[in-house]
Amino acid sequence: MSDTYLQLVSGGVPATIAKKLGLPRPVRLRRTDPAAVDRPLTPGPVLVLSDEASTADADAVAEGLLGWDLDVHRALRLGDHARWGAVVVVLTGLTHPAQLAAPALALTPALKQMAAGARVVTLSRPAPPAGGAGASDPAVAAARQGVDGFLRSLAKEMRAGATANGLVLAEDVEVGAPSVRGGLRFLLSARSAFVDGQLLPVGAGGAEPADWARPLDGVVAVVTGAARGIGAATARVLARDGAHVLGVDVPAAGESLAAVMNEVRGTALQLDITAPDAAARILAAARERYGHLDVVVHNAGILRDKLLANMTADRFEGLLAVNITAPLRMNETFAAPGTLGGQGAAPRIISLASTSGIAGNRGQTNYGAAKAGIIGMTRALAAPLAAAGGTANAVAPGFIETDMTASIPPVPREISRRGSSLQQGGQPVDVAEAIAFLASPQAGGINGQVLRVCGQLMVGQ
Ligand SMILES: NC(=O)c1ccc[n+]([C@@H]2O[C@H](COP(=O)([O-])OP(=O)(O)OC[C@H]3O[C@@H](n4cnc5c(N)ncnc54)[C@H](O)[C@@H]3O)[C@@H](O)[C@H]2O)c1
Repeated sequence: MSDTYLQLVSGGVPATIAKKLGLPRPVRLRRTDPAAVDRPLTPGPVLVLSDEASTADADAVAEGLLGWDLDVHRALRLGDHARWGAVVVVLTGLTHPAQLAAPALALTPALKQMAAGARVVTLSRPAPPAGGAGASDPAVAAARQGVDGFLRSLAKEMRAGATANGLVLAEDVEVGAPSVRGGLRFLLSARSAFVDGQLLPVGAGGAEPADWARPLDGVVAVVTGAARGIGAATARVLARDGAHVLGVDVPAAGESLAAVMNEVRGTALQLDITAPDAAARILAAARERYGHLDVVVHNAGILRDKLLANMTADRFEGLLAVNITAPLRMNETFAAPGTLGGQGAAPRIISLASTSGIAGNRGQTNYGAAKAGIIGMTRALAAPLAAAGGTANAVAPGFIETDMTASIPPVPREISRRGSSLQQGGQPVDVAEAIAFLASPQAGGINGQVLRVCGQLMVGQ
């Protein structure tokens, strides 16, 4: 679905009027362009800042960025008309919240000179969980947790399609680890256009791909609900990144499914995922066609919105059957040892949650329960998948422009659309890019996590 308001205010007199009236002024986001694969990673030079205790790590990060042909600076001098494409703030050595002031204030002048679609990325360490073991010094914990509030607030101040996100590096993970470089590259790139205000925990593991443009070369992936919307976009992005795609959808969507699969040179499988033998049939089809199956994307889902006061059994139970019971049942097969992965590719299970499963949403008790259930399922799968050398993660979209959200009545639809820091809905491709990243070797250190693709939706954190 197209966003007419965004098209209207993206320039000229309407943009000036919107500014004067204090109306939202969404801009077109910096997204990947298949016709320009050699476009630089960032829309301008990269500045690397740090607190004093993190200087060595910041030097290592700057060195690593040079390897990606970026114009990297360690101080604020910039030509008169140049604009920063990104600022990486290294805070891995923080031991007291007061130490955050220097790098934050060093960022101040840079923020006035940011390119459209620029990025701020922080690198920090995790605060210990309540009552947990590990770093229990209150000042260290305050400093590390402080990065969270700093980053989320900064993201709400970014303008012109720029975003702010962070990577939270596990204690034993160095800034030069493949998983950190993979996460950093994703957050700096146009692939993360609709990811905003988020801190992504990164552990050890993962590997840099031989070719950053085709990190999924030879990987075999199944995408459920691939006939349209996010599923179709995911099939396209996985194929662009080198994967063979098996697309699944209900027989009623057979024609569109065939069209998408023809486009990506994939394989169409008409199948209702609630069928008890759904996983066995998917596995058989993948093995017959490609010899193995590596990546499962649980994307198929439905909406059956009603206030709980007016809810019916078929709406509640029918939704749970598709959105959570089917993925749970299928994972009994997919997560079994030795099922996923082959020819060097690591097993990956990526499931579609929703910001409604995090923050809740009026009229969506059934959907919220199912999508929060996806998050629970993902966390429980992390250990068995890790044991098999793989990962299980969830992607939580906010408001994405698809047929599903087109069915929302106009007023709540417009409120949801403008309710993010980027003041617009995301596109299916934005979610697809996040899924493809989590499927890639460079994301091997991210496990059991929920990656929001919501433009920092106010109701979804
Ligand atoms: N669009 C959004 O804003 C949004 C937000 C949060 C989460 N999500 C989630 O993302 C996923 C995709 O959403 P979308 O907006 O692209 O939806 P969509 O309705 O456009 O597409 C869903 C696809 O799933 C298929 N499907 C439904 N039931 C099926 C079944 N039983 N077996 C096989 N296929 C089935 C449909 O035929 C359809 O092709 C869903 O899980 C949804 O809950 C979407």
